[in-house]
Amino acid sequence: MAKTKTQFFCQNCGTSSPKWIGKCPSCGEWNTYVEEIVAKSNDPRSSPFSSKNTGRAPKPLKLNEISGTEEHRIPLVDQELNRVLGGGLVPGSLILFGGEPGIGKSTLMLQLATQEKNLRVLYVSGEESEQQIKMRAERIGIANENCFVLTETNTQNIFQQIAQIEPQLLIVDSIQTLHTAHVESSPGSVSQVRECAGELLRYAKESNVPVFLIGHITKEGSLAGPKVLEHMVDTVLQFEGDRNHVYRLLRTIKNRFGSTNELGIYEMQGSGLREVANPSEILITARDEQVSGVTIAVLMEGLRPMLIETQALVSTAAYGTPQRSSTGFDLRRLAMLLAVLEKRCGFRLGTKDVFLNIAGGLKVEDPGIDLAVVCAVLSSNADIPIHNSICFAAEVGLSGEIRPVQRIEQRIAEAEKLGFKEIYISKYHKGLKAGDYGIQLRQMGKIEEVFAGLFG
Ligand code: TYD
Ligand code: MG
Repeated sequence: MAKTKTQFFCQNCGTSSPKWIGKCPSCGEWNTYVEEIVAKSNDPRSSPFSSKNTGRAPKPLKLNEISGTEEHRIPLVDQELNRVLGGGLVPGSLILFGGEPGIGKSTLMLQLATQEKNLRVLYVSGEESEQQIKMRAERIGIANENCFVLTETNTQNIFQQIAQIEPQLLIVDSIQTLHTAHVESSPGSVSQVRECAGELLRYAKESNVPVFLIGHITKEGSLAGPKVLEHMVDTVLQFEGDRNHVYRLLRTIKNRFGSTNELGIYEMQGSGLREVANPSEILITARDEQVSGVTIAVLMEGLRPMLIETQALVSTAAYGTPQRSSTGFDLRRLAMLLAVLEKRCGFRLGTKDVFLNIAGGLKVEDPGIDLAVVCAVLSSNADIPIHNSICFAAEVGLSGEIRPVQRIEQRIAEAEKLGFKEIYISKYHKGLKAGDYGIQLRQMGKIEEVFAGLFG
């Protein structure tokens, strides 16, 4: 029997301490220390699945002496996943895939497992039974003869099965259900999560098999388990979206092999998640009659331009304090834009309720949406519709100036492609030639000019 050793771990950040402490010296949280039993086996660091220990002592090499291998990636069937991973799956990478319960993590991962017909995939589930997984797979409706399902939570048993099956892709649903014999605390506790992730990390690096780890998200919106998990893995993906909307966004939070501002979009259907290749077409409502308070913004989500509908409603405040409410757009930024309208342009919005809504349950952070927001508010306030062949791409500054935004050529091209006739942009963009585009460029310097151009 190994000697029982206990330690106290902060459940928030994973810091350990031999004694209980009230306030974590590392993350500053109170009452987060929990005692966990850490029974050390002889050599817990030795890898349980391979004996590739060469005993070579590493010595420093000059950077230009290291033989550079051509970066190899496995292209996936799922184009949206390819995009957020930075152009395909890197062999031997460990990917943490987080999201709130019920958002569709298991569905997307099972879909990945069944779609990749050329890969031998092992889908390990600690959350659902084989029958439940089969039912889900039938619902998704793609069959892959090379997809193995294992319902197991003990990592030692999992590695035994891995040694037999020799998968080319491993998916673990979820990291919080796993437990290893090297640590005696309960599954989901900080030391278990960290140790299990560590074992999977060593497996991924030694076998060069890519591993997806599904991770739960806490009420506060961070990945459950220690922060160290995010440091250990190569890539952190997050699945977001409003459960009442059908759209799901796949974001990269961290990526050692690509950029982090990529976005994948899916639509949740009765038969699984469908990739949305052209988001602009679904985020704009096709309507016949003109309504006030609706504008179209041209945004960049990562490297992808898309058009999105912005709706505003301005009405006389029924109670003393006017309400400001916004979905998908930062409320403080809305307050700032309203203050700019009030101060610089003399619009009396101080006694009005203002409601703002971004289509599709999306959260927009690109400042290029500012002008569309301002114009939606003005349109609703004046009750004059803005023609649906007009779109906007500019930031609004504190003095009401129309500021340039990044990648304007790409935005203009996207608006032109979708058949828009006019685009309102900043006049401070350098080197734009109006003649180059089949769409009319309305280059503005101040918010008053925009107002005159639209309603004047
Ligand atoms: P799930 O993948 O179980 O979520 P997670 O693993 O993130 O907790 O997704 C569950 C939700 O997805 C559930 O509310 C039903 C819905 N769903 C569909 O709408 N269509 C489908 O084809 C599937 C499989 C699930
Ligand atoms: Mg699940």
